[in-house]
Amino acid sequence: MLKIKSNIAKVILAGVLEACPEAALTEADIAGWLEYPPDVAMGDLAFPCFRLSKVMRRSPVQIATMLAERVASACDCVSSAENMNGYLNMKLEGSYLTADVLPEILEKGEKYGAPTFGEGKTVVLDYSSPNVAKPFHIGHLGTTVIGHSLKKLHEFAGYKCVGINYLGDWGTQFGKLIVAYRKWGSREQIEEGGVDALVELYVKINNAISGNEAEGIAPNPALADESRAEFHKLELGDEENLALWKWFIAISLEEYEKTYKQLDISFDSYKGESFYTDKMPAQVQKLRDMQLMKISDGASIVDLEEYGMPPCLILKRDGSTLYPTRDIAAAVYRKNEYNFDKAIYVTAAQQSLHFAQWFKVVELMGYDWYDQLVHVPYGMVSINGAKLATRTGNVVLLRDLFAAAIDKVRQIMDEKNPDLPNKDEAAEAVGVGAIVFYYLSNNRIKDINFNMEDALSYDGNTGPYVQYTYARTCSIMNKAAAAGICADGAPEGVSMNAQESELLKTLSRFGECVEAAIREYEPSVITRYILDVAAAFNRFYHDCAILSAEDEATRAFRVSLTAATRTVLGNAFNLICLRRIEQI
Ligand code: ARG
Repeated sequence: MLKIKSNIAKVILAGVLEACPEAALTEADIAGWLEYPPDVAMGDLAFPCFRLSKVMRRSPVQIATMLAERVASACDCVSSAENMNGYLNMKLEGSYLTADVLPEILEKGEKYGAPTFGEGKTVVLDYSSPNVAKPFHIGHLGTTVIGHSLKKLHEFAGYKCVGINYLGDWGTQFGKLIVAYRKWGSREQIEEGGVDALVELYVKINNAISGNEAEGIAPNPALADESRAEFHKLELGDEENLALWKWFIAISLEEYEKTYKQLDISFDSYKGESFYTDKMPAQVQKLRDMQLMKISDGASIVDLEEYGMPPCLILKRDGSTLYPTRDIAAAVYRKNEYNFDKAIYVTAAQQSLHFAQWFKVVELMGYDWYDQLVHVPYGMVSINGAKLATRTGNVVLLRDLFAAAIDKVRQIMDEKNPDLPNKDEAAEAVGVGAIVFYYLSNNRIKDINFNMEDALSYDGNTGPYVQYTYARTCSIMNKAAAAGICADGAPEGVSMNAQESELLKTLSRFGECVEAAIREYEPSVITRYILDVAAAFNRFYHDCAILSAEDEATRAFRVSLTAATRTVLGNAFNLICLRRIEQI
């Protein structure tokens, strides 16, 4: 559709320039204003002519009338154009879709819909980044799947991408863990219990430090001091503490990897917070040299009042570094290491201020790449209305959520399709996919309330439904191959019925959805598009015989449409971490 839009925009622009040569407009402006009418009866594309009234000093109706004639005669892809209340409504030429769009999908295959604007550019993406020894809970679903989806989208557009898991592997929580482990833990217990055992220790020591009135446990601040001391020893390189620290990280990573594997996610770098310990002093010194820091209450801060923000904390009173300090050092390191054109950070919206603050500090430090830093925030997740607490350990783990979904899908499969081969694999793909799809169906910034029942339904707008649709296209293609019907495009002069034409038009919109998803850092654009494709395909499937169509040419055409649908759905699934399965 991008090509179609650009063709139409060219003709409109020529019309505008002829009437008023001084108009400062580009083809891209005009293409960007083209809309899809709310009702297909009105046309396939519409141009709102009020956009030009000011420049052309004419009414929208006059402009639409003038452009209609021009567009209808000069654009091969437009079959008719007319004014409707100041909108230029256009219908697309079916033969253009069959002769141009369909072969393009079939030829380009996995590359269909891929923009090229990322070629030669690099993007680093910081996402997932769990805090070691704290639970990997459903709140991390957002950063993990939005982050990975953005990586896939950028890769699709030609960017070289570096996925970074900025593990929270440093900080006083390790002091606490070390103390708790020595006090209550054992090697066997951790080896057996994995990250759960670590979380248990962490929760236990937090409860001990702050006390629990209900359970009659008095607060024990001495434990907090002890923990700080152990962390300090770790900072100084104490061998024993270092060994424990490394071990805690390895145990945690092992667990995270299982979840990443289910999502088919891998990272290019695991450089966590600890890696930047020795990279911070240089940045702190630079801040000092540039006189950007001042002392407030003993702490070193960068005052951001002028920019309407609270100060950015660089050093605590005791000289220890903070979260922003590390982020600044990490950004400088990454710029040097990867020379990125864009650095994307995906976190919960609660961290928006943190990012705005340190981005500003980077700008004040004179780094001219400050405007290449992008924070991508997302909303809160709750489950059936329940909020999530992390300190108490009372949370829904991502792993458990996936396991429950897989279990449920397995039951449905046992009922619906007991002879399905590779049932375990399929159940995992559908179960995990259901959660990912449900999550990514919403605008990322919206808070979402997770409802398992809705997510797993086979007949709502869900992951299982779209995976089912994909599997349906595969099964038709297999049967077509067995019957010797090739997907080689449309026969000349074919005239499409409404379902065929709707499907093909929907398929042609893929490229612009990819561009919008990248521009807005919004994977849900793809999720919603997948639903449109699935709906259009299923209408086509129900109303039109494919393999048993009356004549050979129609059979071949419909099989081609099915092949194109499979390609587009497959490409789109790939962009949102949804696995393609051939049978469900
Ligand atoms: N570890 C942090 C957390 O779980 C997220 C890190 C996000 N990335 C960053 N560069 N600050 O809250």
